Amino acid sequence: MNNEEQQTVFDVIGNTGFECLVSAFYRRIPNDPILGPLYPDQDFAGAEQRLRDFLLFRFGGPADYIERRGHPALRMRHAPFAITRAVRDRWVELMEAALLEARLPQNAARELKQFFDEAATFLINRG
Ligand code: HEM
Repeated sequence: MNNEEQQTVFDVIGNTGFECLVSAFYRRIPNDPILGPLYPDQDFAGAEQRLRDFLLFRFGGPADYIERRGHPALRMRHAPFAITRAVRDRWVELMEAALLEARLPQNAARELKQFFDEAATFLINRG
């Protein structure tokens, strides 16, 4: 049995790792010319908490997200936002910068990066 393979990202980076990552990401959003305008309510603290809770749940941590928000249904929840390829690329770019800033262990960072690439592509909803 190889324990390495069974460890979740949450086992490796814990609450603190997700907090660092998501706060580094959301620090970049309010003043971003492409992504900032998608938040007309400016509820950046709330958005930060929702993304952090979702990632904790998705990567093996506590499932508070499900209790608070129900099924993630990410495509449905993103439908109101016009996500073109350029918007998706910008989101991924800011998340990659946040990953570098958070200095997470390499394996965890690689797994997260791959998930973000794929999930962001899946969320493109406008030509
Ligand atoms: C592709 C580019 C993306 C854009 C432009 C985008 C934009 C947004 C916006 C504007 C919100 C509303 C903020 C709020 O909760 O108040 C949101 C919510 C959210 N996004 Fe994204 N997002 C993108 C990709 C992603 C990806 C890849 C993930 C998954 C890792 C994700 C996960 C979430 C979650 C969990 C919420 C909160 C949903 C809820 O419970 O209401 N987003 N996003």
